[in-house]
Amino acid sequence: MASRMSIISDDPALSEELKKTFQRDDWQIDSYAQPLQARGVLLEQAFEPRVVVVAMRVLSQEALDELKSLHDSMECGEWIYLIADQEQSPSAQVNRLAFDVLDQPADLERLALLAQRAWRSALTRWHLRHYTTTERKRFSFEAYQGTSPAVEEVRSLLKQLSDVPLSTLIITGETGTGKGLVARILHYCGERHKEPLVELNCAALPKELLESQLFGHEAGAFTGARTRHHGLFEQANGGTLFLDEIGDMDLELQAKLLKAIEDKKIRRLGGEREIDVDLQIFAATSVNLEQAAREGKLREDLYHRLSVFSIHLPPLRTRKEDMMDLVPRIVAEFNLKANKKIDVIPNKVWEQLMAYNWPGNIRELRNVIERCVLLSKDEVFPARWLQLPDSETASSRQPSSDEAALLVPLDGSMALEEIDRMVIQKALKLNNFNVTEIARVLGTTRETLRYRIQKYDLKQRA
Ligand SMILES: Nc1ncnc2c1ncn2[C@@H]1O[C@H](COP(=O)(O)OP(=O)(O)OP(=O)(O)O)[C@@H](O)[C@H]1O
Ligand SMILES: [Mg+2]
Repeated sequence: MASRMSIISDDPALSEELKKTFQRDDWQIDSYAQPLQARGVLLEQAFEPRVVVVAMRVLSQEALDELKSLHDSMECGEWIYLIADQEQSPSAQVNRLAFDVLDQPADLERLALLAQRAWRSALTRWHLRHYTTTERKRFSFEAYQGTSPAVEEVRSLLKQLSDVPLSTLIITGETGTGKGLVARILHYCGERHKEPLVELNCAALPKELLESQLFGHEAGAFTGARTRHHGLFEQANGGTLFLDEIGDMDLELQAKLLKAIEDKKIRRLGGEREIDVDLQIFAATSVNLEQAAREGKLREDLYHRLSVFSIHLPPLRTRKEDMMDLVPRIVAEFNLKANKKIDVIPNKVWEQLMAYNWPGNIRELRNVIERCVLLSKDEVFPARWLQLPDSETASSRQPSSDEAALLVPLDGSMALEEIDRMVIQKALKLNNFNVTEIARVLGTTRETLRYRIQKYDLKQRA
């Protein structure tokens, strides 16, 4: 696409010459005789040039003030000034506004190169500015979408929490309810947003690895530790450490974590020195931590320390009115990503969406909509790709005892691992290979389940 340039010049012959020169380089050009004229078009029609070339024979203070105000109200263009009369022009002011200033008559080849450089600079600035605003927007309070009272309440709690200097916070909620999203919102809307947000899934790593990931290690701390490693506590210093699936952390490690939180100090594995850390810790879990604490899977003291502040995210099935807000937004998002144009959601689609229970919550909703949008052929949302289990049966269905039961020989003919494999295989079949649902049924995490599916080679059906 051609890049946009504006030329502001009170010299028609020069203006024409510049136009011809730049058009050869594929610029899309509009030109104005006076700054005031340019102002009307550029600001009102939102034509945003990346480069503005100003070549005025007479650059009065009035014209300059006008140019300055135009310069300040436009977004990210670079300005090149061609100055005819060095004596007369108020050059300090020009210098402040300009990407570069050339004497007239200017070497046109040099000017063309300069315009290219100005264009790159403008583009970089534009990208940076947009990147920052979109990231901030992505994780603003509004990113946690929905209009139901429950969601409003979560949003208002988020606003409150982002004002408090949190040292620890627990985020609870079923899988796919937005725990990761909420952690990001709280980080990016909070005081520590300029510092790093570092995330670790406690379910994904074995204990030893988790420990060295968290606390780091010195060279030679254990076999294989060849160099010093800065752990996540250090990497997140100043910012936020987000511990996902905290319920899956080993008890011994929990004690170490608690100590680090309380002392605000850590020690690398194999290290002598204590290192001060100052950060906030968010812990997320989809299991009931209170119950986990009662059952001894989570240290009570850690539970109490973490849960000074807590936020619970409601499942989608308890706030289905949010679908009216979420579905169109998600459809629009994937329309854009996949270059599709769905703008009709038929009644029967709504009925199915509303009737379903959404055990995988918003993540599942997003996945289903993504599939439908990708496979759509026209502007109508395709009902046939919803493929939701019949909700009536799915929600109230208790598999008949035969179907749901498993006969396990306890005569030593089957090893524990084989039994494990059998249980997972059966659950996969019963729940139509829905990993999220099976993880819930078996009271484990998706990560653990995926790991075992891979380990036992229980691949999804093609
Ligand atoms: N209220 C919401 N508004 C918009 N998007 C949401 C909302 N809640 C969740 N999402 C989106 O749903 C997806 C799943 O959310 P997220 O990964 O935060 O869930 P989670 O609770 O961390 O799940 P898990 O326990 O499985 O890790 C993400 O794409 C997230 O952006
Ligand atoms: Mg998550």
